[in-house]
Amino acid sequence: MADMEREADTGKVVRQHAEMENFFSGGFAVKVPKGEPKTQSSTKGPASAETVKALEQIAEQTGQCRKCELGSLRTNAVPGEGSAGARIMFVGEGPGADEDAQGRPFVGRAGQLLDKIIAACGLKREDVWIGNILKCRPPGNRDPRPEEIISCLPYLQRQIELINPDVIVALGAHAAKTLLDTTKSIGQLRGIFHEYYAGIGHPPIKLMATYHPAYLLRSYSPDNRRRVWEDMKKVLSELGLAVP
Ligand code: URA
Repeated sequence: MADMEREADTGKVVRQHAEMENFFSGGFAVKVPKGEPKTQSSTKGPASAETVKALEQIAEQTGQCRKCELGSLRTNAVPGEGSAGARIMFVGEGPGADEDAQGRPFVGRAGQLLDKIIAACGLKREDVWIGNILKCRPPGNRDPRPEEIISCLPYLQRQIELINPDVIVALGAHAAKTLLDTTKSIGQLRGIFHEYYAGIGHPPIKLMATYHPAYLLRSYSPDNRRRVWEDMKKVLSELGLAVP
């Protein structure tokens, strides 16, 4: 290999390493030149009043829902939150103890990591939408049961239809397998765009699957962190947003 090529190659590896370390080192600060805004918008602009109202109605319905036994076990339903005009929807598995207590998605440890991932992308939490497959917490954070998913999924399907994002990011195996209706593993699904079908006559929505932040916290290896960052970079490129 010519010297110049080797230097360019080494430079690329060093840059990628620094980028990854910055992303997951806890600093998460997005370094941008002075004078430029630190964040970029990921909304399509304000949603219509009807859309906002319909989303509020879904939130109310989840609070009353007794379609499965989780309805009688919850402290609060966690319908999801964020911009009704979001271009990105993050979908996790189901609320944990912190989310059940607050009625808000991803507010515990996994949520703090998701916040860092969103910030590292140069995005604001309030510009995206964050929710789950299940709106109520499974006891002891056990896996969602098929009958619970079947009962709950229509809420999310309607939320997706209303928000109509450009990209859905499925966080973890449960979200990815449910939304894509597949038994493939998250390892097989992540890293490439899939298509989510929101209904007849509705153009398919791009879906990127990636590791769940809770999994990442448990298996905090450089390889897993790099994989999530690579997945998010693809999402930003797909949206035509800058990769910080
Ligand atoms: N894990 C999830 O899947 N969703 C949350 O809201 C919190 C943790």
